[in-house]
Amino acid sequence: MSIRGEDMRSVALATLMALGGMFGFSSEVSPYDSAATKELMHSNVAAVDAVTKGVEAGDWIGVANGFLQFAQNAQKAMQSAPPKGDPQEWARLWEDVLFAAYRGVGAAGEKDAVKAKAALDQIIADRNAGHPKFKG
Ligand code: HEM
Repeated sequence: MSIRGEDMRSVALATLMALGGMFGFSSEVSPYDSAATKELMHSNVAAVDAVTKGVEAGDWIGVANGFLQFAQNAQKAMQSAPPKGDPQEWARLWEDVLFAAYRGVGAAGEKDAVKAKAALDQIIADRNAGHPKFKG
């Protein structure tokens, strides 16, 4: 029994779509939503506060939750188009925020204030790089 080229292509496409569904990646980018982005940014402000206060107090659950909030926000932002500017740079910066947030969760797990602060500093650096390019 042989499989025709066309069938092979649809099998490959279906597999790719199934994998995309499983791992949460997709080429779908939603249009920019300013109100939703502002809400997300207010959540980022709260996350900076939660991580900073958590590190000061040795509240590692609070630190982990702050970083998880960053991770959730970054994943949402990555799925949106930027309001202006280079979409690849937008995606790159949010991916950087996302992986810094994962390092932050790891740092909370190790109760390591130095690593937690380094992860937060990276997220702040991404904000400082992103705002002049995409905000206002
Ligand atoms: C620690 C991380 C961040 C914090 C605390 C933060 C904070 C804020 C705040 C307070 C605003 C104003 C919201 C308002 O007008 O009500 C804002 C807006 C905005 N930020 Fe961020 N930000 C962060 C990271 C980023 C990053 C990484 C990017 C882009 C790569 C970004 C892009 C934007 C954009 C596009 C707006 C304008 C929203 C709009 O008015 O439509 N931000 N951010």
